[in-house]
Amino acid sequence: MREDAHQTIYLADYTPYGFIIDSVALQFDLDPHITRVKSAIAFHPNPEATDPTFLLNGENLKLISAKIDGKPVTPKFTAEGLTCDVPDGPFLWEAEVEIDPTGNTALEGLYMSNGMYCTQCEAEGFRKITYYPDRPDVMAVFTVTINGPHPVLLSNGNPISTDTHSAQWHDPWPKPAYLFALVAGDLVAHPGSFTTKSGRDVALNLYVRPGDEGKCAFGMQALKDSMKWDEEVYGREYDLDLFNIVAVDDFNMGAMENKGLNVFNSSAVLASPATSTDMNFERIEAIIAHEYFHNWTGNRITCRDWFQLCLKEGLTVFRDSQFTSDMRSAPVKRIGDVIDLRARQFPEDQGPLAHPVRPASFQEINNFYTATVYEKGAEVIGMLKSLVGDQAYSDAVDLYFDRHDGQACTIEDWLKVFEDTTSRDLTQFKRWYSQAGTPCLSVTEDWDHGKLTLNFKQHTPPSAATPDPQPQVLPIAVGLIDQDGDEVEPTVVLEMTQAEQSFVFDNLGTRPIASVLRGFSAPVVLTQDLSDADRAHLLAHDTDPFNRWEQGRILARKSLIAMILEGKNPNKDWLQGIRAVIGDEHLDPAYRALMLGLPSQSELARALAEDGHTPDPDIIYAAVETTSDAMAKSYANLVPTLYMRHTVTEAYQPNAAQSGKRALANAALSLLTRTDGGTAAQKQYDAADNMTQQLNALANLIRVGKGSTALQVFEAQWRNDRLVMDKWFGLQVTEADPEDAHEVVETLTKHADFNWKNPNRFRSVLGAFAANHAGFHHASGAGYRLLADWLIKLDPVNPQTTARMCSAFQTWKRYDANRQDMIKTELDRILAQPKLSRDTKEMLTRIRG
Ligand code: PHE
Ligand code: ZN
Repeated sequence: MREDAHQTIYLADYTPYGFIIDSVALQFDLDPHITRVKSAIAFHPNPEATDPTFLLNGENLKLISAKIDGKPVTPKFTAEGLTCDVPDGPFLWEAEVEIDPTGNTALEGLYMSNGMYCTQCEAEGFRKITYYPDRPDVMAVFTVTINGPHPVLLSNGNPISTDTHSAQWHDPWPKPAYLFALVAGDLVAHPGSFTTKSGRDVALNLYVRPGDEGKCAFGMQALKDSMKWDEEVYGREYDLDLFNIVAVDDFNMGAMENKGLNVFNSSAVLASPATSTDMNFERIEAIIAHEYFHNWTGNRITCRDWFQLCLKEGLTVFRDSQFTSDMRSAPVKRIGDVIDLRARQFPEDQGPLAHPVRPASFQEINNFYTATVYEKGAEVIGMLKSLVGDQAYSDAVDLYFDRHDGQACTIEDWLKVFEDTTSRDLTQFKRWYSQAGTPCLSVTEDWDHGKLTLNFKQHTPPSAATPDPQPQVLPIAVGLIDQDGDEVEPTVVLEMTQAEQSFVFDNLGTRPIASVLRGFSAPVVLTQDLSDADRAHLLAHDTDPFNRWEQGRILARKSLIAMILEGKNPNKDWLQGIRAVIGDEHLDPAYRALMLGLPSQSELARALAEDGHTPDPDIIYAAVETTSDAMAKSYANLVPTLYMRHTVTEAYQPNAAQSGKRALANAALSLLTRTDGGTAAQKQYDAADNMTQQLNALANLIRVGKGSTALQVFEAQWRNDRLVMDKWFGLQVTEADPEDAHEVVETLTKHADFNWKNPNRFRSVLGAFAANHAGFHHASGAGYRLLADWLIKLDPVNPQTTARMCSAFQTWKRYDANRQDMIKTELDRILAQPKLSRDTKEMLTRIRG
């Protein structure tokens, strides 16, 4: 096969594997450079298969020996692995391979992280461990022996025996190879326990490197809360005697749901008040829940093939967002999720990387762990729930667990349980899984003697992935607010199925204002013909907290865009409307903090492009600055009170109540810093006893050009804490003035602690840079060149992280011809690298278009 002839794989080509596995026994003799893996796999022919070829995947393996039923065989090697003649009936495949964990910098398969061994097998990493049918529909029971001079030797399931230097594990639940895990090293356990609702005692452990013991308590509590919640809300009980979580420093993603042995990026599990922000705590709680929830949605019921990735990810993201809503504030969580969806999923869905929630083809599956599969995938579940109602949702999910436990399933299986429960025909709804693109929804009104008619139109822009989009099923949550601010029609969910459709509300006295798409009931771009005065009225009175926030956000965006395009001053009605909300002590501080947020610069760029304008990053940056200054001035006599009143003086707790107060106080501090030049920020910095206060103060000091001393102090204080140093690196880039952001990045990449092979550190600098909108898009093109240089350097070492960061370029066609030319030059320069990975090549080819 030619180096660059990367194959495209199609959903339509699925065929079952030719064999069924009866058992798998693995033995690992660990060595940092030459680890031996012995496998004994019992196969028998799959009666349902049409293709009897015996194929085992393998990558970067040195085959030492291979036997079938005890007799040596000589397999034929292929691009994917190997093939071999096999007997007609059952047979035993035995192989011995050598692998090099130290040389494995891609962090897929078995690799080393700071002296410990760990594995990452999703999606196709197991083939780097031994020859195996590395596909999720091949499920098997594993027994694993680990030999090595390490105090901790872990794998999936329950331990059968543990000696010094040798351990045996047995996982009774059949699983696909992507859920396999092994961890070995000099680790310490933070123990815990949980008793399930049927009385099973489960031992829990959080394994960390010595020195990190003090950062375990919060994660352990989050795990117990998740276990309880899944029993109470979904009726799901844990199914092994043991549940282990391991923290590793080198990890491409957030965390991984390996059966009974979750592996976490240390940034997604380790937490302490002194080293972690409120946002870190909330994220950690959510990720622990997410991985734990996979035990049922992903592990007990897995995916037939990787095209069905959203079957486990969309559902599990939906479940973890329900969990966070229950643990904390539901409206605040919803608003945060929508901000995130618009920041990450909308640009993907509206650009060259657009793909359906269930893609129809791919070259490298690693490139499809996307905001579309995860976050839009979760939105689709949310829509399904609001269409069928809570009870039917719960019945359908119960049926899903009953019917499909132990199976590898498809989206068709998932939708069928809803059809069987509700007798609904979900044929049209299924388009949410097959069509790319964000639907545009517009609404106009007719008012006639007590009758309000809402006229909706929907239209999805065509894309390469979906050239001819059809109308979607849209659940549109609507309520009506009258002129006095009272709700005259509580939320109803309108079900739109046509391209154009009208809905009538009758018997109304005076003309109300329609609060449309409450709770963001569908992932669409809504255009509603409302006056600014009506929006201000909803901002003051809407009973739906999401839409109340949304109206403030829309007014802010309109004000900013009028400033960008026409040099207008900030909209006074908006400024006043927000002032009333943030000063209202009856409202949740976290919610009020969100009200003080502005649309991000890249969101403004997207909005401008949507309206046919070419965004200028410098002008956008200036408009956000001017608007923030205007807020600071206009709220000058409220801000100090807000700041004082919400500064928490009790001992730090990472709960919703305290973190909401800190969020509001810190939002106030940002405004205060614009008028006091950093005095309050310096005070907060000096007094801070937790990372939320310390980091926010530092950010404000950098913003007013007074950060250099604090940055030095911070570095001296935290130089031995990897996760805190990631913040130190990242913050300097995030807060850098766009004019010198690229120089800041260049300086930081020369810092002795810039260990670029560590994904967290790489992202803390280069990822933060791509998110500094005006800095990255500097008119000189220096930003583009700098990122491209680093992607070229990282690609041979870690293709997966490189490919993910290529999405920094996905919006390139929004910008002016000059910037487009410079970006194109960089894309082509990367694409011309002789040994570019399949991951990066696929991403750049799609982005280049
Ligand atoms: N399956 C993991 C999750 O969603 C994500 C992941 C994918 C981690 C691939 C590592 C590699 O939680
Ligand atoms: Zn997941």
